[in-house]
Amino acid sequence: MSKTTTIISLFLLLSTTITTAITTVSSDITALKSLKSYINPKTIPSYTCLHSWDFTSDPCSPPHVTHFLCGLTCTKNRVTQLTLDPAGYTGTLSPLVSQLTQLITIDLSDNKFFGPIPNSIFSLPNLQTLILGSNSFSGTIPPSIQNLKKLQTLDISHNSLSGSLPPNSLTQLTELTRLDLSYNKLTGPIPKLPKNIIQLALKSNSLSGYLQKPSFTELTQLEVLELSENSLTGTIPAWVFLIPSIQQINLSNNTFTSIQVSKPSVNSNLIAVDLGYNKISGYPPVNFSIYPMLASLTLRYNKLRGRIPWEYTKTTTLSRLFLDGNFLIGLPPKEFFSGKNIISGSLGDNCLKSCPISSGLCLKSQKPWSICQQAYRGKQKPKS
Ligand SMILES: *[C@@H]1O[C@H](CO)[C@@H](O)[C@H](O)[C@H]1NC(C)=O
Ligand SMILES: *[C@@H]1O[C@H](CO)[C@@H](O)[C@H](O)[C@H]1NC(C)=O
Ligand SMILES: *[C@@H]1O[C@H](CO)[C@@H](O)[C@H](O)[C@H]1NC(C)=O
Repeated sequence: MSKTTTIISLFLLLSTTITTAITTVSSDITALKSLKSYINPKTIPSYTCLHSWDFTSDPCSPPHVTHFLCGLTCTKNRVTQLTLDPAGYTGTLSPLVSQLTQLITIDLSDNKFFGPIPNSIFSLPNLQTLILGSNSFSGTIPPSIQNLKKLQTLDISHNSLSGSLPPNSLTQLTELTRLDLSYNKLTGPIPKLPKNIIQLALKSNSLSGYLQKPSFTELTQLEVLELSENSLTGTIPAWVFLIPSIQQINLSNNTFTSIQVSKPSVNSNLIAVDLGYNKISGYPPVNFSIYPMLASLTLRYNKLRGRIPWEYTKTTTLSRLFLDGNFLIGLPPKEFFSGKNIISGSLGDNCLKSCPISSGLCLKSQKPWSICQQAYRGKQKPKS
């Protein structure tokens, strides 16, 4: 035998050994088969990952030239990632998914899975990422979610989940940094939250009740708080704006009735606050003007009265200010129109005097005199 032939035979021998060495454990194969069988075959066209799942060959054995082209990742003989393509797969999720005990990532987003999320999924010991966003999953989030001790990302946004969030379970998820349950039908109060959370999005649900401090204590990493389009009520308390790492707060489209804003902490990173479309009465909070990073402030469509605080013109960071749709009176601070501070937003639909129509801030006209008069009837106007 020539040297080259020897090398080639050796190589062939080696590669056969490697391919035959990897055989997916049978419980993983059963789980994958079950997963595929729960999906309506009419929703598995030829160009999709699931179509390439042909069990005449082994799921974890390379090379993946014709079979198991995508949708899963193995580490040795175990499936560690299940990441389906957004092909519009329609069906329920097989409870046998829990047999894939080495799973670290599940991403089934942008498909048409429906029915409850099988309870067994909450027993996967190694799961770090669970993304089921933009499907039609229904049912509730069970307390057993607390068993996902390694979970870092949970995104079940844009589904049809209902019921209230389990009251004492989320705190057990100490590794969780991103929680997105926006666009569901969740009801009830906001429970105590996991302490290492960075992004919290519960937008567009039917959550109700007050913002309670115990739900938010120990949250030192929270940067984004997105609770808009719910039925939260009561006072927006001062501590919300003092959460240590907070950068963005959106509480718009709720039914909050008042607000407290105290002086910022020295290291405040708060950049954007949207409190629009609530029922907040009282004066515009002056203390917002001393938040050192605040660039965008929206208080539009509330029941604010009194004058626009002149302090709002003193900040160098504020570049967007929406105060439209309130009952603000008096002359707007002329600094807004001097051309020095480039500020965008709106002061329209208030009870302001002489808002210069040459300014973009005043494009929307002021309220009719009769409505303003009625709003202030029996109330004392602040002195000029
Ligand atoms: C806050 O949420 C509302 C409603 O979902 C959205 O329209 C608005 O753009 C958000 N505000 C900011 C500053 O992103
Ligand atoms: C917020 O509420 C206002 C008034 O009820 C409504 O017109 C607007 O569409 C809502 N915004 C969103 C994003 O739902
Ligand atoms: C501004 O904050 C201080 C404390 O930080 C507070 O005493 C004061 O009442 C606040 N001002 C207003 C108008 O809320």
